[in-house]
Amino acid sequence: MISIKSSREIALMKKAGDILATTFDVLEPLCIPGTTTKHLSEVAEKVIRDAGGIPEEKGYYGYPAAICASVNDVVVHGIPSSYKLKDGDIISIDIVVSYQGYMADACRTFTVGKVSQEAMRLIEVTKECFYKAMEVCKPGNRVGDISHAIQTHAEKNGYSVTRDFTGHGLGRSMHEDPSVPNFGIPGTGPILREGMTIAVEPIILQGKKESRVLKDGWTAVTCDHKLAAHYENSIVITKDGYEILTKHEEGEN
Ligand code: MF3
Ligand code: CO
Repeated sequence: MISIKSSREIALMKKAGDILATTFDVLEPLCIPGTTTKHLSEVAEKVIRDAGGIPEEKGYYGYPAAICASVNDVVVHGIPSSYKLKDGDIISIDIVVSYQGYMADACRTFTVGKVSQEAMRLIEVTKECFYKAMEVCKPGNRVGDISHAIQTHAEKNGYSVTRDFTGHGLGRSMHEDPSVPNFGIPGTGPILREGMTIAVEPIILQGKKESRVLKDGWTAVTCDHKLAAHYENSIVITKDGYEILTKHEEGEN
């Protein structure tokens, strides 16, 4: 069942999204050689709680940290650890914040020191995939239009899209209907309606589309150990388009 949110619910999700955007603002400058991913998680948890939010990933099906910190060939769900970031790494930080029971979910891929041209291009194209998807986000279009926009832009640039992880509805829960895959056929799937809230999250792989989960039960890596990038925002479908809930009105993140 796809729920339609009231303006009160959307305002609470926006507040959660605002806390999330602030968290990215604090974390981005910390993504430098020598910082541990565990430190990033601890800082994020403090920023979120100080703002009156809850880091919802912590304890989610037993997940042990406040953020997912996925470095280089880690596709999603990298567990923060004593690993020290090093020059040339890329790190995808995926965070879910709730505020008064309402969720916002977003991810950014940051660079550490000086990264390769190839890595920069992967990160840029991944973000572009999100905005290609936004072009079709309006009432009457379908989830498959979003999926197709992401897949087309990624593959046109020589990349592949994951089949193993999808975007999703969200609100009172982190994951609600509908599922929003990163691949699909235009004109198919659920119809987008005003008040629907979804997380759109291109997860783009430099090499082949296959990933596998490590023995820790969480960390998903690319099978070919090439890079992965991830760009995600929570959005609401509006009367004539969409609004992003997890970005400051102005500013980078
Ligand atoms: N934030 C992820 C998503 O985009 C979910 C993280 S799973 C968790 O759906 F266990 F880490 F919380
Ligand atoms: Co998500």
